[in-house]
Amino acid sequence: MIKVAPSILSANFVDLKPDIEVAQKGGADLLHIDVMDGQFVPNLSFGPGMVEAIRPITSMPLDCHLMIENPERFVTQFCQAGADIVGVHVESTPHIYRALEMIKQHGVKAEVVLNPGSPVSLIRDVLPIVDQVLIMTVNPGFGGQQFIPQMVAKIQQLNQLRQTGENDFSIEVDGGINDETVKAVAEAGADIAVAGSYVFNSDDPIAQIQKLKVETKA
Ligand code: DX5
Ligand code: ZN
Repeated sequence: MIKVAPSILSANFVDLKPDIEVAQKGGADLLHIDVMDGQFVPNLSFGPGMVEAIRPITSMPLDCHLMIENPERFVTQFCQAGADIVGVHVESTPHIYRALEMIKQHGVKAEVVLNPGSPVSLIRDVLPIVDQVLIMTVNPGFGGQQFIPQMVAKIQQLNQLRQTGENDFSIEVDGGINDETVKAVAEAGADIAVAGSYVFNSDDPIAQIQKLKVETKA
């Protein structure tokens, strides 16, 4: 059964608390927070203040996906704000190893993120130090986009690399996840699925979270 990380990017920005509570009640395993800087991706969203504000109102681990240029400038702030996982894009800095080490030094789980156009080979040398890999299944920047089916092969490839037993990390996927696409990613080896619009653009977010889990009950 896949773990589900609802993304607050599709929640009600005027009143986030009920959406966060409903996600937790629905059995969400993590809360996904999308951070965008208007440079690395063509959109703006939340900063560390949002993470700090959410921290006391939920016991779900906070999964912070940084879509910002040179994320090492902000890693410390997100860790101190209460993030449990911090994800940095391999494409966003020439110093990915340093950025990941900084996250770990704060006792926070370090995640490396891959854009749809980036091959798995790009992150091979950081696999020994990461807790998690996030495979983007849409181009980052917006919720509600269509799943890119070619990404399934990439999840399989990463899963095979993991099975050599050399490195131990979780695989998360993000973008276009619904009750159909979740089956393909779970079968390919994904452990965690981010879901934004599928969960929150629905009258019954709890049922949607449950459906993602039921569909992947192996
Ligand atoms: C896109 C974000 C996603 C987004 C997913 O840049 O990283 O986390 O919220 O939204 P859906 O599930 O609607 O594709
Ligand atoms: Zn995300």
